[in-house]
Amino acid sequence: MTQTHHSDALVLFGATGDLAAKKIFPALVTLVRRGKLKCPVIGVAREALSDEDFRARVHEALRDRSEADAAAVEHLCSLLRYVGGDYRDVITYHTLRRRLEGCEHPLYYLAIPPAMFPVVIESLGGSSNVRESRVIVEKPFGRDLPSSQELSATLERVFDENDVFRIDHYIGKEPVQNLLYFRFANTFLEPVWRRGHVRSVQITMAERLGVGSRGPFYEEVGAMRDVVQNHLLQVVSILAMEPPADDTLQSLQAAKIAVLHAARPLRAEDVVRGQYDGYRHERGVAPDSEVETYVALRMHIDSARWAGVPFYIRAGKELPVTATEVIVELEPSTSPMFREQAGQQKLGNYFRFRLGPDRVAIAVGARIKSHGEQMRGEAVELFALNARGEEPDAYERLIGDAMRGDHSLFARRESVEASWRIVDPILANPPPVHIYSRGSWGPAIADRLIAGTCRWYAPRTH
Ligand code: BG6
Repeated sequence: MTQTHHSDALVLFGATGDLAAKKIFPALVTLVRRGKLKCPVIGVAREALSDEDFRARVHEALRDRSEADAAAVEHLCSLLRYVGGDYRDVITYHTLRRRLEGCEHPLYYLAIPPAMFPVVIESLGGSSNVRESRVIVEKPFGRDLPSSQELSATLERVFDENDVFRIDHYIGKEPVQNLLYFRFANTFLEPVWRRGHVRSVQITMAERLGVGSRGPFYEEVGAMRDVVQNHLLQVVSILAMEPPADDTLQSLQAAKIAVLHAARPLRAEDVVRGQYDGYRHERGVAPDSEVETYVALRMHIDSARWAGVPFYIRAGKELPVTATEVIVELEPSTSPMFREQAGQQKLGNYFRFRLGPDRVAIAVGARIKSHGEQMRGEAVELFALNARGEEPDAYERLIGDAMRGDHSLFARRESVEASWRIVDPILANPPPVHIYSRGSWGPAIADRLIAGTCRWYAPRTH
């Protein structure tokens, strides 16, 4: 399909699911409000619902939208149609074909459990529903490297690679894009953005909520597959990449992928897995589940720029706050003038990137002299960006881009596979899972991963 076509229908598999309700329909409302979505939106799911029932469901899912969006919600509902049926049943696809009457370039969005991807992709291929169409697949793309390659092979049998959009909404987040911009638009960064100046890099993705109604999905993935293999390794690749050779998408992607290729596959001693107390009682979770709801890890990137600089990642549910932050910690000053406060200085020099959900920030941690006769200092933050509002929505941007055929902010097959190569050894031989209390920062043993070089920084709450 030529990349200039605009999709003329959006077909959402998994239309009654959690992702659709929480992320996709809210994004569609905004697209409608901005005049970027005018075509039919066809929900597909197992339940038998009429178009009217489906509209009522979506209406309910969007009840929190502000009054200003009321007209957009109504308009979105007027675009909705519904096809109920088993994903394995060919009748479902025949019905879909009929409901797509008059549409030539549908965009299929697979917001369904990963195990169902091949079934739906093959069925679409077998039912002549895919001519001139595009497909969005939601992460995780496979369960490991071999299954990811298998998934790509399945996609390739049915779709042209240029029509495949692997959505990783972190890449579409405005603060993540800003991270990329900030890195390469500021020449003062380049000399210090490397070993010798950077002591460590750490990323915390903390979530206050547990798995909620997503127990069955989470049992299939765990934190490593849910957010580390995709979202957080994408952030690492932006933080650690070399300047791209030119301004093309290919060069940008090649620079990011080079980081993933240079990262060492994880070893068991680099990883701590945790599970919050009570997870095994969540709906859809096995009573003896060993799935991790928390993971902390230490990564090494064997490049000239980063050799010897540890990259730490921790991500978990039921932690004290919801926030994603990056801290790039610089080496402390060695000047003898400041020796009396050497301990404190460790807190002083860093870059902090708050990626969400609110209080988006790019800040530089520095030390300044405290008022008084003594040569003593205190830590301050200099802000390059300090936004307290809600971040713009990544799903809105990405769905709009896929409808236009723009690949810039989607994960490419090679980067997905390079990321699996890093985490696969742990998925194959997971270290034991440690139970942690809800509302804590995860298993205390995770402190050992980082001890000696630095400490975990809690994201800012003020
Ligand atoms: C999703 C994960 O990809 O990202 C969820 O499946 C997680 O488990 C979510 O809660 C977090 O996204 P955001 O944009 O709210 O940080």
